[in-house]
Amino acid sequence: MQEKYIDETKQGEAFAIAEKPTNSKKLFLESYGCQMNFSDSEIVASILNEQGYNTTQIVEEADLILLNTCSIREKAEQTVRMRLSQFKNLKKDKPNLTVGVLGCMAERLKTKFLEEEQLVDLVVGPDAYRDLPNLLKETDDGRDAINVILSKEETYADINPVRLGGNGVTAFVTITRGCDNMCTFCVVPFTRGRERSRDPHSIIEECKDLWNNGYKEITLLGQNVDSYLWYGGGPKKDFAKASEMQKLTAVNFAQLLDMVAVAIPKMRIRFSTNNPHEMTEEVFRMIAKHDNICKYVHLPVQSGSDRILQLMNRQHNRQEYLDLIKKGKEIVPEISFSQDMIIGFCTETEEDHQQTMSLMREVEYDYGYMFSYSERPGTPAHKKMEDDISAEVKQRRLAEVIALQGELSRKRMQGYVGRTHEVLIEGTSRKNENQWKGRNSQNAVCVFDKLEGQKLGDIVSVFVHGNTQGTLLGETV
Ligand code: SAH
Ligand code: F3S
Repeated sequence: MQEKYIDETKQGEAFAIAEKPTNSKKLFLESYGCQMNFSDSEIVASILNEQGYNTTQIVEEADLILLNTCSIREKAEQTVRMRLSQFKNLKKDKPNLTVGVLGCMAERLKTKFLEEEQLVDLVVGPDAYRDLPNLLKETDDGRDAINVILSKEETYADINPVRLGGNGVTAFVTITRGCDNMCTFCVVPFTRGRERSRDPHSIIEECKDLWNNGYKEITLLGQNVDSYLWYGGGPKKDFAKASEMQKLTAVNFAQLLDMVAVAIPKMRIRFSTNNPHEMTEEVFRMIAKHDNICKYVHLPVQSGSDRILQLMNRQHNRQEYLDLIKKGKEIVPEISFSQDMIIGFCTETEEDHQQTMSLMREVEYDYGYMFSYSERPGTPAHKKMEDDISAEVKQRRLAEVIALQGELSRKRMQGYVGRTHEVLIEGTSRKNENQWKGRNSQNAVCVFDKLEGQKLGDIVSVFVHGNTQGTLLGETV
């Protein structure tokens, strides 16, 4: 099974960037959490590369350590705190070492970090990365530095990300930032601010640039790609105030997909994350219209119970969600779906839990990302509701949901057997160096023997003859 989120108990990933004129300082940059954080780290790397920083993957060598952090669940924050504590000794040996916290934890905890954690010198929220050069001047002078101002406009549209740690074949392209929904359990609206969309022309330029540099697949990223709306600037919330001309020339997500698919006709296009209450039929029609748009939609639902969905302040109910899935399957018969599910939200009963299980059976998801509810300080659920489901019950229900998703995944993978799939070669299989790994349009991972003349980035036809729970086994034809 693929990991959309880095396992919260695992260490983050550190990257190296290409060398540029050096200021003789070395940067160690590690990312935690969602794809958006990894994409943001590429922007941070670009900004610091301009300042002459060289990167290192050896933490002991670093003059500047930056952790790009995640707040989505308590465990994610604990992992970062543990990582930070490992730097204590380094700091003793190297008094000039600067340690910075970026991203959602920086935004959530702000100055608390500087007070609580004696070893943090620098705190920078997701909309303040352009200020890094100035903030680093302050830390160089021995002062703590912080910028956690959220912006209504910042999209980093003009910054050309330094591609980090990738395979040179697939890349992320951010199209929206922030979230205006207020799901009661979620910390994202507080850590990432208002929703805003990036200029479509800068998106297309970035995608073309990636194609010219050998990339074969892009994933358009946003907390809610369906709420993408470009009308010449400003947050989506202010669209009503836009001029008639701006309204006439506005670009929505389906139109953006169309533009990107036409502009780079051989680039494979994926996107994440969709939101059931804003996703339109038009998006499915674009998937059907363009061969280069992958037939896969990640459509978080969180629960199968209307009562719980309402407490979560989700703007869709069970039936509306199922209707959307049905529409998708009608318009794109080969489509696959994956879900996000929160297990054990406040007041969840056995009956609610069964509703979640029955919804999963009805949709037949290819994959799922399932987590126990983790109460986040400051969110509406924390303020107004009680986290009243015991850890044992959460754990047991979670295990049931994971087991069910395992069954569904296996069944879906079996459905791909006996057919030929177009697979993009993304790398060597982890288990066998004589095999490639890649994904089909539906995002299913496929492994197959390497043949003479094949290389990374090729799209090959693979006949699938078997499967495991999460992987297709095949051979090139
Ligand atoms: N719009 C983004 C949401 C980011 S949060 C997206 O859909 O990717 C990603 C997932 O984390 C959510 O869909 C939800 O399933 C889960 N999540 C968010 N807050 C949570 C919490 N407090 N406890 C457990 N899981 C949570
Ligand atoms: Fe969070 Fe809901 Fe937005 S899950 S990111 S508040 S759509």
